[in-house]
Amino acid sequence: MTMQPRPVIAEIVPESAPFSVEQRTWLNGFFAGVLSIDGSGVKPLSAAEAAALLPGGPAAVPAYPPEDGDDGAPWHDQTMPIAERMQLAEGRPLPRRMMAAMGQQDCGQCGYNCEDYSDAIFLRKEERLNLCVPGGKETARMLKKLYEEIGTTPTAPKASASAASLDSPVASSTVALATVAAIAAPGRSRDHPAEATFLSRTRLNKPGSAKETWHVEFDLAGNGLDYNVGDTFGIFPTNDPALVDAVIARLEAPADFPIAGRTLRDVLLDGVSLGLAPDMLFQLISYITGGERRQKAKALSSGEDPDGDAATLDVLAALEKFPGVRPDPEAFIEALDPLLPRLYSISSSPKTHAGRVALTVDAVRYAVGKRKRLGVASTFFAERVAPGAKVRSYVQKSQNFALPSDPAIPIIMIGPGTGIAPFRAFLQERMAIKAPGRNWLFFGHQRSQYDFFYEDELTAMKAAGVLTRLTLAWSRDGEQKIYVQDRMREVGRDLWSWIADGAHLYVCGDGKHMAKDVERALIDIVAVFGVRSTNEAVAFVTELKKSGRYQQDVY
Ligand SMILES: Cc1cc2nc3c(=O)[nH]c(=O)nc-3n(C[C@H](O)[C@H](O)[C@H](O)COP(=O)(O)OP(=O)(O)OC[C@H]3O[C@@H](n4cnc5c(N)ncnc54)[C@H](O)[C@@H]3O)c2cc1C
Ligand SMILES: NC(=O)c1ccc[n+]([C@@H]2O[C@H](COP(=O)([O-])OP(=O)(O)OC[C@H]3O[C@@H](n4cnc5c(N)ncnc54)[C@H](OP(=O)(O)O)[C@@H]3O)[C@@H](O)[C@H]2O)c1
Repeated sequence: MTMQPRPVIAEIVPESAPFSVEQRTWLNGFFAGVLSIDGSGVKPLSAAEAAALLPGGPAAVPAYPPEDGDDGAPWHDQTMPIAERMQLAEGRPLPRRMMAAMGQQDCGQCGYNCEDYSDAIFLRKEERLNLCVPGGKETARMLKKLYEEIGTTPTAPKASASAASLDSPVASSTVALATVAAIAAPGRSRDHPAEATFLSRTRLNKPGSAKETWHVEFDLAGNGLDYNVGDTFGIFPTNDPALVDAVIARLEAPADFPIAGRTLRDVLLDGVSLGLAPDMLFQLISYITGGERRQKAKALSSGEDPDGDAATLDVLAALEKFPGVRPDPEAFIEALDPLLPRLYSISSSPKTHAGRVALTVDAVRYAVGKRKRLGVASTFFAERVAPGAKVRSYVQKSQNFALPSDPAIPIIMIGPGTGIAPFRAFLQERMAIKAPGRNWLFFGHQRSQYDFFYEDELTAMKAAGVLTRLTLAWSRDGEQKIYVQDRMREVGRDLWSWIADGAHLYVCGDGKHMAKDVERALIDIVAVFGVRSTNEAVAFVTELKKSGRYQQDVY
């Protein structure tokens, strides 16, 4: 008797998802049956997507199982340097140390949140260690090091405590099915982008500004996409064709060299990152060169910086550093990182911009030596994409950045520069729903004359009483720099009184300096006007964060 092969049930819900084996098996079978899919053509959900199946969505999954340490994941702070994060994770199970190596933004650019990405790597379900955009090379290197420990440690990621809350998969099946269908739909996740139509770009700075920031709009008509304020918009950009051509010229390869059914030029345009040269590229160069140059390439591939220029070596500069080295185009492409999507805070409310989404984008341009360098996505918006063009995109649902559900709660928004983006959306939303809660915006930028984004709109909202207070900080108007946190300190008493009234606080924009400085100012305000010791003020602000009253969208 010949054995019939067992029917393959699509693995839709991954093993790393927080379900028991029985729950997962049942859910896989259920979805395979209802969605009429088999094991051949379905991409498994990421653990984050699967977690969204839980009643209550991703928020129902605690950020970290408490049994791993009663302080949860103390490194989960996007403003903390990697060395500090790794120190805090010392002695923790390997997947947690892997998590600490990541950018801590839960931004989804890698297709996961930080915890799920680390679990997927630990479980060897994800081989790519170079997907963390905010963490960049530092994260990739640390992950490589930690990856070598797999198998030498008995620890496995623990199932989330909340899996137990899904006692009966049947009871939750309606919610779960709706969520799976939503995630698998185009535009609902990085892995299933939809096409949005680029409509327009409008410069937000007046002529004379040192900045170049664009208000960008997309049409979502026909792609079924919708969003909420607080969500971010992910887009797949293309590289600058002039840079692509310069790389091809360095390789001395034909632009139409075939690579996996495409041409070398096409793959360079939209498939791989031409940003900071990855370690793998230097490794490849070390294989095909000799002597001192080999040593140098080898050193660069292991994170050393023999000439003090490592931080400036993008892919083209790396090729230029080793003139005459001509890697095989296929091996070259293999050595590069994938070109990842970029995220932008949505700066419109669907209630006032039905079928459209707006973004506020700062164009990244800088020079290294004589060569001008361009941020890929921001200059794609600023100069390369033409109105009418279709752009692969998706809506990244906000995990922890949303208006209070009670519209009467006052809100304080702190967003210098492009940080204003989600607050324009918040204000439009509160205006549209006639929310009775007070709204206070702190905005700042370089010069009042040139960089007052959305001035007319904000002025009108203030006149209409929607924007209760608008506090402005111009850093380059006078002799001394005035930042938003300076203004916060000046009005500390009022700020404290809003907090005492239950206000929710929001910070958006630069995560490297501004967000930390704003938090410091807030702690000082709580200490002075809330009459607390510094330690008590720190604990108070920590509690605000834990209870969702202090939310950040920083990058
Ligand atoms: C959740 C989230 C929300 C965001 N929202 C917004 C938003 O609303 N608006 C917005 O503009 N951006 C936003 N960003 C940032 C955005 O995603 C991109 O990172 C940004 O636009 C740069 O992307 P790029 O492709 O243009 O630049 P890239 O090609 O990624 O180049 C950026 C890199 O260039 C290098 N670099 C930049 N400037 C210099 C310099 N002066 N000297 C040397 N090297 C330099 C750095 O290595 C930097 O990482 C957000 C990010 C996240 C994660
Ligand atoms: N990944 C990327 O490549 C990328 C792309 C876009 C933006 N960003 C970063 O994201 C952030 C937002 O950029 P942006 O164009 O919106 O504006 P920005 O550079 O953050 O500037 C906005 C305002 O904030 C001020 N500022 C500078 N340091 C501050 C601090 N420590 N605390 C409070 N305010 C401070 C600036 O003043 P001064 O300039 O006068 O000091 C300016 O007035 C920046 O950090 C930027 O570098 C990164």
